[in-house]
Parts: sequence; structure tokens; C-alpha cells
Amino acid sequence: MPTQNLDASYFSEAQKDWDLERLLKDLEARQQKKLPTAQQRNLRAILLGHSPKDASQKLHMAETSLKPAFSALYRLIEDLTDQPNTTVTYKNAPLVLAKYRKEAMSINAKFNLLGRDSDRLELEKLRKQHKIVLLKAGAGVGKSTLSRAFLETQFKKVIEIKMGAEFGKVTPVEEKVSQILQQNFDEEPSHDFQTNLEIWRQKLSDRSCPVGVLMDNLEPTLDENYRFRESLRGYEDLLRVLCDRDVCSFTLITSRRSLVAQRVTLREYKLEGLNITAWQQCFRDCENAETSEALIQMCEAYNGNAKVMDILHGAIANRFDGNIESYWNRYKNALLADSELKTLVTVEMDWLRDNQPDAYKLFCRMGCHRYQDIKTVPFEGLLCLLWDVPESQRAYIRVVGK
Ligand SMILES: Nc1ncnc2c1ncn2[C@@H]1O[C@H](COP(=O)(O)OP(=O)(O)O)[C@@H](O)[C@H]1O
Ligand SMILES: [Mg+2]
Repeated sequence: MPTQNLDASYFSEAQKDWDLERLLKDLEARQQKKLPTAQQRNLRAILLGHSPKDASQKLHMAETSLKPAFSALYRLIEDLTDQPNTTVTYKNAPLVLAKYRKEAMSINAKFNLLGRDSDRLELEKLRKQHKIVLLKAGAGVGKSTLSRAFLETQFKKVIEIKMGAEFGKVTPVEEKVSQILQQNFDEEPSHDFQTNLEIWRQKLSDRSCPVGVLMDNLEPTLDENYRFRESLRGYEDLLRVLCDRDVCSFTLITSRRSLVAQRVTLREYKLEGLNITAWQQCFRDCENAETSEALIQMCEAYNGNAKVMDILHGAIANRFDGNIESYWNRYKNALLADSELKTLVTVEMDWLRDNQPDAYKLFCRMGCHRYQDIKTVPFEGLLCLLWDVPESQRAYIRVVGK
């Protein structure tokens, strides 16, 4: 194959209408390897609507050598866009990839988060099958950031329902729905909650303007059984509207815990921390971030937690002159020395103390096993620590423990 055929100028007109960078990034994330230069060129030809025959003439190549390469791209596009097998061709590829057109992009902000490409693809898939998805993860993993970025890049209109501070007062749902009607839809709310919900349901059913909804930080509304607290049960009605058959909105809920709600269909998505590649990108202004063993250990020690990554990066850049090793030498045996890091853990411990006192008791008593000496403790050994808890409740701990 003559090398000039690989020149980036071939079919470069595609650049005008298509966000090639984002499309390539998504395709490469999907197949977990880089698209060869020749395939990038063929992809541009496909976006311009060229058949293998047209393209081969323009490239002065034999059609037979291009056909299999085009077919491989069709399969990749099917995979990316969830189209059935062997349905994509050069004729419909520009259509199924429409969301990568630049004019489509101009409506939306660009998705630009470290290490979240595969989560974004997963959420795009879930969005097609579910109306409500609950993103579940511990404090600081990155739930709110991902949810906001995802909705902003998918919807022209995003409604954010903040559930309030950690243990603070939660706004009653009646008030919340009235506010939404006024602020987001310019509607005068009625005094009747059910009427307001019905107005909202109709607004969300408008197919010409699908809405993204973010319910951020659900925890303060939940009781120890993962249900809405008695006084806040009205939020179940609100969720029922959001999963109604006719609405075309998509809702993301962020929560550290699961939700149990009657007649509400939702899908739970467990969000993991950021991987080492994302950490290396975040620390790229520090010394040897790409090769640092200390950074790998830090990422592992904190399960990739995004908030921790932010805090550590700030500390290392400002107080340790960008020297990752010297920070880690000082703090690797005191993971919670920083008060901000400690808060991430105490928030969980306080919840356990207030909502699952037996589990909290168990957790504190586990301190009797010196982790420096003992690697694992058998489950029965843990149950023995609950000597003053009735047998029936110990069985419950077994379930929670698993
Ligand atoms: N993908 C990411 N890349 C870089 N920083 C991130 C990322 N996700 C979250 N962060 C940062 O981590 C912190 C915690 O994120 P947040 O979304 O508030 O966590 P959560 O909602 O799970 O408690 C924020 O300061 C945010 O800027
Ligand atoms: Mg959050």
C-alpha cells in the first residue's frame, strides 16, 4: 500500500462536520486499542458517505483490499452504537453516528472527565433501557461529577434536585415539585401536590425536549432500611413520575446507599474509583508520575477515590514540590492523617453508628484483631464478637457482611 494513502489529508473534509476526536476516543475505548491510521482514514471516508468502491478510486487502491477493512469498521460502529449485528453499512453509518456530528455537539457541553469514558458508554447503554439509574458509591468516588457531566452532554435541559446537606433538613417534596414547575417550566403550581405531579408528568412527556434529571445526594432522605423516611415518602410519588411509561426523561440518582421504593423501577450502577491511568493524568505536573511506584500504591490504598486524588494532588503539588515519593514516604502508614481525608471515612462511620448500631459495634470490636499480625478472620470469629447481640440479629449481620 503506498504510504501517501495514509496521509491525514485523505477525506479530511470529514473534520468539518464530525467530532472525529471524540468518535475515535469512544471507538478506541470500546475495542481497547488504537485504531490504525489506515482505519482512521477509512472511517473518515465512511462518515463522508463513500462506498468502498468510491473510496478505492479516490485512493488509487483495489476495492478488494478496502472491503474487509470497511466491514471491520461497520462491526465496530454497531458495537459502539448498540445496533444489531451486520446492520451498519456506509449508507446508514452517518445516521447511526449522528450524535458525533458537530452541530449535535454544539447543543451539548463536551464530556471531559478523567477516566470515565467506559462509565459514560455504560450509562449511554443503560439510558436506552432504564428511566432511572442510581449511581452508588462511597463518598468522594465521583458520583455527582460524573452524573452532572453525563446529563449535560446528553440533554439540552437538566433539572438538578439537591436533596440537602448530609444530616440537614430535607426540603419537603411538595415544596420541591412546586419549585421545579416554577423555575424550570415557568408554570404556576397548584396547591395540590398530585395536580403538580401530573403537570410535571406531562412536561416530561414532551418528546421534542427530553429532560435530564439529577437527584443528587439521596442519603439524608433515607432511613436505616434504605427507604424514604416516613415524613419524606412523597419522594416515592416523585420517582414514580420519573419512571412513568410516558415520560421521556432520564434520571440519575447519586447515593452512597441503595434505595428501596415501592412501584419504582430503577437500575443500580455501582461506580468504581478512578484507575491508575486517570491518577497519572491528574499528577502529570508532578515528578515521574508516569512511572511512580508510590502513585500506584496510593491509587490502590484509596481505591482510586477521586476526591482523595484531588486532595493528594493539591498537597503534593503545593507542599511537597511535586515529589510524590517523599509525600508517600511520610504518610503511607497514616492514610487518614489529612483531616479532609478523615472526613470521607467518618461520614460513613457516623451513618453506621446512627443507623446500624450492631454493625458499628462489630466494626469497633474488630479492632481487637491486630491487622499487622492477622491477615484474615473467619466469619464465625466475627460473629463471636457480637456476644451481647441476640442470635437472630447476628444472622442479619451475616447478610449485611456479605
Ligand atoms: N473523573 C474525575 N476526574 C477528576 N476529578 C474528579 C473526577 N470525578 C470527581 N472528581 C473530583 O473529586 C471530588 C469528588 O467528586 P464528587 O463527584 O463530588 O464525589 P461524590 O459525589 O461521589 O461524593 C470533586 O472535587 C471532583 O472535582
Ligand atoms: Mg456527591
